[in-house]
Amino acid sequence: MKKLENKVAIITGGAGSIGQITAQLFLEEGARVMLVDLNEDALQQAVRELGGENVKYSAADVSKSEDVRRYVDATVKAFGKIDMFFNNAGIEGVVKPITEYPEDMFDKVIAVNVKGAWLGIKHVLPQMNNGGSIINSSSIAGINGSPNVSAYITSKHAVVGIMRAAAVEAAPRKIRVNSVHPSPVDNQMMRSLEEGFAPGQAEAAKKELENTIPLGRYAEPEEIAQLVLFLASDDSRFITGTTQVIDGGLSVQ
Ligand SMILES: NC(=O)c1ccc[n+]([C@@H]2O[C@H](COP(=O)([O-])OP(=O)(O)OC[C@H]3O[C@@H](n4cnc5c(N)ncnc54)[C@H](O)[C@@H]3O)[C@@H](O)[C@H]2O)c1
Repeated sequence: MKKLENKVAIITGGAGSIGQITAQLFLEEGARVMLVDLNEDALQQAVRELGGENVKYSAADVSKSEDVRRYVDATVKAFGKIDMFFNNAGIEGVVKPITEYPEDMFDKVIAVNVKGAWLGIKHVLPQMNNGGSIINSSSIAGINGSPNVSAYITSKHAVVGIMRAAAVEAAPRKIRVNSVHPSPVDNQMMRSLEEGFAPGQAEAAKKELENTIPLGRYAEPEEIAQLVLFLASDDSRFITGTTQVIDGGLSVQ
Protein backbone atom coordinates (compact mmCIF):
# COMPACT_ATOMS: atom_id res chain seq x y z
CA MET A 1 0.00 0.00 0.00
CA LYS A 2 1.37 3.39 -1.00
CA LYS A 3 1.68 5.94 1.81
CA LEU A 4 -0.46 8.71 0.25
CA GLU A 5 -3.03 6.69 -1.73
CA ASN A 6 -6.11 8.82 -2.61
CA LYS A 7 -4.68 11.89 -0.89
CA VAL A 8 -4.52 15.41 -2.36
CA ALA A 9 -1.61 17.78 -1.67
CA ILE A 10 -0.86 21.44 -2.30
CA ILE A 11 2.84 22.28 -2.54
CA THR A 12 3.84 25.96 -2.63
CA GLY A 13 7.25 26.78 -4.03
CA GLY A 14 6.32 23.77 -6.14
CA ALA A 15 8.54 24.73 -9.07
CA GLY A 16 11.59 25.04 -6.81
CA SER A 17 14.14 22.46 -5.76
CA ILE A 18 12.62 21.00 -2.57
CA GLY A 19 9.03 21.55 -3.76
CA GLN A 20 9.41 19.70 -7.04
CA ILE A 21 11.27 16.74 -5.60
CA THR A 22 8.66 16.45 -2.84
CA ALA A 23 5.96 16.49 -5.51
CA GLN A 24 7.70 13.61 -7.28
CA LEU A 25 7.84 11.58 -4.06
CA PHE A 26 4.19 12.35 -3.22
CA LEU A 27 3.13 11.25 -6.74
CA GLU A 28 5.11 8.01 -6.40
CA GLU A 29 3.25 7.40 -3.14
CA GLY A 30 -0.14 7.75 -4.84
CA ALA A 31 -1.06 11.39 -4.16
CA ARG A 32 -2.53 13.97 -6.51
CA VAL A 33 -0.60 17.22 -6.35
CA MET A 34 -1.26 20.91 -7.02
CA LEU A 35 1.98 22.82 -7.56
CA VAL A 36 1.87 26.52 -6.64
CA ASP A 37 4.60 29.00 -7.55
CA LEU A 38 5.24 32.53 -8.73
CA ASN A 39 7.13 31.34 -11.76
CA GLU A 40 4.64 30.04 -14.37
CA ASP A 41 7.28 28.91 -16.91
CA ALA A 42 8.99 26.85 -14.24
CA LEU A 43 5.62 25.44 -13.16
CA GLN A 44 4.84 24.34 -16.72
CA GLN A 45 8.22 22.69 -17.00
CA ALA A 46 7.80 20.96 -13.62
CA VAL A 47 4.40 19.58 -14.63
CA ARG A 48 5.88 18.35 -17.93
CA GLU A 49 8.75 16.65 -16.11
CA LEU A 50 6.54 15.08 -13.44
CA GLY A 51 3.98 14.06 -16.07
CA GLY A 52 0.55 12.45 -15.86
CA GLU A 53 -2.97 13.42 -14.84
CA ASN A 54 -2.22 13.61 -11.13
CA VAL A 55 -0.23 16.83 -11.13
CA LYS A 56 -1.54 20.30 -11.97
CA TYR A 57 -0.38 23.83 -11.29
CA SER A 58 -1.73 27.16 -10.16
CA ALA A 59 0.46 30.26 -10.61
CA ALA A 60 0.21 32.47 -7.53
CA ASP A 61 2.04 34.93 -5.33
CA VAL A 62 1.67 33.37 -1.87
CA SER A 63 1.87 36.79 -0.22
CA LYS A 64 -1.39 37.97 -1.87
CA SER A 65 -4.63 36.74 -0.35
CA GLU A 66 -6.57 36.74 -3.64
CA ASP A 67 -3.89 34.52 -5.18
CA VAL A 68 -3.99 32.19 -2.17
CA ARG A 69 -7.78 31.88 -2.42
CA ARG A 70 -7.34 31.11 -6.13
CA TYR A 71 -4.89 28.24 -5.61
CA VAL A 72 -7.06 26.75 -2.87
CA ASP A 73 -10.16 26.93 -5.09
CA ALA A 74 -8.23 25.53 -8.08
CA THR A 75 -7.18 22.52 -5.99
CA VAL A 76 -10.68 21.76 -4.79
CA LYS A 77 -12.01 22.19 -8.35
CA ALA A 78 -9.33 19.93 -9.87
CA PHE A 79 -9.11 17.21 -7.22
CA GLY A 80 -12.20 17.63 -4.99
CA LYS A 81 -10.45 18.01 -1.62
CA ILE A 82 -7.23 18.89 0.28
CA ASP A 83 -5.50 16.45 2.66
CA MET A 84 -1.93 17.78 2.81
CA PHE A 85 -0.40 21.23 2.55
CA PHE A 86 3.36 21.70 2.11
CA ASN A 87 3.65 25.42 2.92
CA ASN A 88 7.09 25.77 1.38
CA ALA A 89 7.53 28.85 -0.85
CA GLY A 90 10.33 31.06 0.40
CA ILE A 91 13.02 33.56 -0.53
CA GLU A 92 16.43 34.12 1.03
CA GLY A 93 16.71 37.92 0.76
CA VAL A 94 20.19 39.46 0.58
CA VAL A 95 23.38 39.06 2.63
CA LYS A 96 24.01 42.25 4.64
CA PRO A 97 24.36 43.17 8.33
CA ILE A 98 21.22 44.58 9.98
CA THR A 99 22.64 48.11 9.88
CA GLU A 100 22.91 47.92 6.07
CA TYR A 101 19.97 45.62 5.32
CA PRO A 102 17.56 47.29 2.83
CA GLU A 103 14.20 47.92 4.48
CA ASP A 104 12.26 47.05 1.31
CA MET A 105 14.01 43.67 1.15
CA PHE A 106 13.16 43.01 4.80
CA ASP A 107 9.49 43.73 3.96
CA LYS A 108 9.62 41.42 0.93
CA VAL A 109 11.13 38.48 2.85
CA ILE A 110 8.56 38.89 5.61
CA ALA A 111 5.72 39.16 3.03
CA VAL A 112 6.64 35.89 1.29
CA ASN A 113 8.03 33.77 4.14
CA VAL A 114 5.76 34.90 6.97
CA LYS A 115 2.56 36.38 5.52
CA GLY A 116 2.60 33.82 2.71
CA ALA A 117 2.82 30.94 5.19
CA TRP A 118 0.08 32.45 7.39
CA LEU A 119 -2.26 33.18 4.45
CA GLY A 120 -1.77 29.65 3.17
CA ILE A 121 -2.90 28.14 6.47
CA LYS A 122 -5.72 30.70 6.78
CA HIS A 123 -7.25 29.74 3.44
CA VAL A 124 -6.33 26.05 3.26
CA LEU A 125 -7.64 25.07 6.71
CA PRO A 126 -11.36 25.66 5.99
CA GLN A 127 -11.11 23.41 2.90
CA MET A 128 -8.85 20.75 4.42
CA ASN A 129 -10.24 17.37 5.41
CA ASN A 130 -10.24 16.46 9.10
CA GLY A 131 -7.12 14.38 9.77
CA GLY A 132 -5.02 16.38 7.31
CA SER A 133 -1.38 17.41 7.64
CA ILE A 134 0.32 20.78 7.19
CA ILE A 135 4.10 20.99 6.87
CA ASN A 136 5.81 24.39 6.95
CA SER A 137 9.27 25.03 5.53
CA SER A 138 11.30 26.78 8.15
CA SER A 139 15.08 26.28 8.34
CA ILE A 140 17.92 25.87 10.77
CA ALA A 141 17.66 29.67 10.47
CA GLY A 142 14.36 29.30 12.36
CA ILE A 143 16.21 27.76 15.34
CA ASN A 144 19.61 29.52 15.45
CA GLY A 145 20.95 32.97 14.68
CA SER A 146 23.72 33.69 12.16
CA PRO A 147 25.16 36.92 10.80
CA ASN A 148 24.05 38.91 7.74
CA VAL A 149 20.72 37.21 6.94
CA SER A 150 18.51 38.89 9.55
CA ALA A 151 15.31 39.06 7.47
CA TYR A 152 15.55 35.35 6.63
CA ILE A 153 16.34 34.42 10.27
CA THR A 154 13.43 36.55 11.53
CA SER A 155 11.03 35.09 8.97
CA LYS A 156 11.96 31.47 9.65
CA HIS A 157 11.58 31.96 13.43
CA ALA A 158 8.13 33.44 12.74
CA VAL A 159 7.19 30.30 10.81
CA VAL A 160 7.61 28.39 14.09
CA GLY A 161 5.10 30.72 15.77
CA ILE A 162 2.57 30.27 12.98
CA MET A 163 3.09 26.49 13.10
CA ARG A 164 2.58 26.29 16.88
CA ALA A 165 -0.52 28.51 16.85
CA ALA A 166 -2.06 26.54 13.98
CA ALA A 167 -1.21 23.17 15.57
CA VAL A 168 -3.28 24.05 18.64
CA GLU A 169 -6.16 25.57 16.65
CA ALA A 170 -6.36 22.66 14.19
CA ALA A 171 -5.96 19.81 16.68
CA PRO A 172 -9.71 19.45 17.43
CA ARG A 173 -10.12 18.48 13.76
CA LYS A 174 -7.17 16.04 14.03
CA ILE A 175 -5.26 18.19 11.57
CA ARG A 176 -1.54 18.13 12.37
CA VAL A 177 0.84 21.03 11.81
CA ASN A 178 4.65 20.75 11.94
CA SER A 179 7.70 22.56 10.58
CA VAL A 180 10.88 21.28 8.94
CA HIS A 181 14.26 22.87 9.65
CA PRO A 182 16.95 21.96 7.12
CA SER A 183 20.56 23.05 7.29
CA PRO A 184 21.93 24.24 3.92
CA VAL A 185 20.54 22.20 1.03
CA ASP A 186 22.63 21.64 -2.07
CA ASN A 187 20.67 23.76 -4.54
CA GLN A 188 20.30 27.19 -6.15
CA MET A 189 19.16 28.99 -2.98
CA MET A 190 22.48 28.11 -1.32
CA ARG A 191 24.44 29.09 -4.48
CA SER A 192 22.87 32.55 -4.14
CA LEU A 193 23.70 32.78 -0.40
CA GLU A 194 27.28 31.48 -0.90
CA GLU A 195 27.83 34.21 -3.50
CA GLY A 196 26.45 36.74 -0.99
CA PHE A 197 28.71 35.46 1.84
CA ALA A 198 31.87 35.48 -0.32
CA PRO A 199 31.42 37.28 -3.68
CA GLY A 200 33.38 35.46 -6.40
CA GLN A 201 34.37 32.68 -3.96
CA ALA A 202 31.16 30.71 -3.60
CA GLU A 203 32.92 27.33 -3.73
CA ALA A 204 35.18 28.29 -0.79
CA ALA A 205 32.16 29.58 1.15
CA LYS A 206 30.45 26.22 0.58
CA LYS A 207 33.48 24.30 1.90
CA GLU A 208 33.63 26.51 4.97
CA LEU A 209 29.96 25.97 5.70
CA GLU A 210 30.27 22.22 5.17
CA ASN A 211 33.09 22.14 7.73
CA THR A 212 30.64 23.46 10.37
CA ILE A 213 28.29 20.48 9.85
CA PRO A 214 29.20 17.36 11.89
CA LEU A 215 28.12 15.03 9.05
CA GLY A 216 30.38 17.09 6.76
CA ARG A 217 28.05 18.04 3.91
CA TYR A 218 24.93 19.89 2.81
CA ALA A 219 21.54 18.12 2.76
CA GLU A 220 20.19 16.80 -0.53
CA PRO A 221 16.69 18.01 -1.51
CA GLU A 222 15.52 14.35 -1.57
CA GLU A 223 16.39 14.04 2.13
CA ILE A 224 14.10 16.96 2.98
CA ALA A 225 11.35 15.46 0.79
CA GLN A 226 11.55 12.17 2.72
CA LEU A 227 11.01 14.00 6.02
CA VAL A 228 8.08 15.90 4.50
CA LEU A 229 6.59 12.61 3.29
CA PHE A 230 6.87 11.17 6.81
CA LEU A 231 5.08 14.23 8.27
CA ALA A 232 2.42 14.16 5.54
CA SER A 233 1.65 10.46 5.94
CA ASP A 234 -0.12 8.58 8.73
CA ASP A 235 3.29 7.25 9.86
CA SER A 236 3.52 10.49 11.89
CA ARG A 237 -0.12 10.42 13.07
CA PHE A 238 0.67 11.43 16.70
CA ILE A 239 3.19 14.16 15.80
CA THR A 240 1.95 17.74 15.82
CA GLY A 241 3.31 21.15 16.84
CA THR A 242 6.93 20.03 16.39
CA THR A 243 10.07 21.54 14.88
CA GLN A 244 11.73 18.76 12.87
CA VAL A 245 15.43 19.49 12.51
CA ILE A 246 17.26 17.90 9.57
CA ASP A 247 20.76 19.33 9.72
CA GLY A 248 23.53 16.72 9.88
CA GLY A 249 24.09 17.65 13.53
CA LEU A 250 24.69 21.38 12.89
CA SER A 251 22.47 22.66 15.70
CA VAL A 252 23.69 20.39 18.53
CA GLN A 253 27.12 22.00 18.73
N1 LIG B 1 17.97 25.67 0.06
C1 LIG B 1 18.25 25.65 1.34
O1 LIG B 1 19.43 25.56 1.73
C2 LIG B 1 17.15 25.70 2.37
C3 LIG B 1 17.49 25.40 3.70
C4 LIG B 1 16.48 25.49 4.66
C5 LIG B 1 15.20 25.85 4.32
N2 LIG B 1 14.92 26.14 3.02
C6 LIG B 1 13.54 26.55 2.70
O2 LIG B 1 12.95 25.58 1.87
C7 LIG B 1 11.95 26.19 1.05
C8 LIG B 1 12.17 25.78 -0.42
O3 LIG B 1 13.41 26.30 -0.84
P1 LIG B 1 14.29 25.65 -2.01
O4 LIG B 1 15.59 25.30 -1.42
O5 LIG B 1 13.52 24.63 -2.75
O6 LIG B 1 14.52 26.97 -2.89
P2 LIG B 1 13.99 27.34 -4.36
O7 LIG B 1 14.40 28.75 -4.58
O8 LIG B 1 14.45 26.31 -5.32
O9 LIG B 1 12.42 27.24 -4.22
C9 LIG B 1 11.61 28.27 -3.70
C10 LIG B 1 10.43 28.45 -4.64
O10 LIG B 1 9.54 29.42 -4.06
C11 LIG B 1 9.03 30.20 -5.13
N3 LIG B 1 8.55 31.50 -4.64
C12 LIG B 1 9.30 32.55 -4.22
N4 LIG B 1 8.49 33.57 -3.90
C13 LIG B 1 7.22 33.16 -4.13
C14 LIG B 1 5.95 33.79 -3.99
N5 LIG B 1 5.82 35.06 -3.56
N6 LIG B 1 4.84 33.08 -4.31
C15 LIG B 1 4.95 31.81 -4.77
N7 LIG B 1 6.14 31.17 -4.92
C16 LIG B 1 7.26 31.84 -4.59
C17 LIG B 1 10.21 30.37 -6.09
O11 LIG B 1 9.77 30.74 -7.38
C18 LIG B 1 10.85 29.00 -6.03
O12 LIG B 1 10.38 28.15 -7.05
C19 LIG B 1 12.07 27.70 1.27
O13 LIG B 1 11.08 28.12 2.18
C20 LIG B 1 13.45 27.84 1.90
O14 LIG B 1 13.56 28.99 2.70
C21 LIG B 1 15.86 26.06 2.04
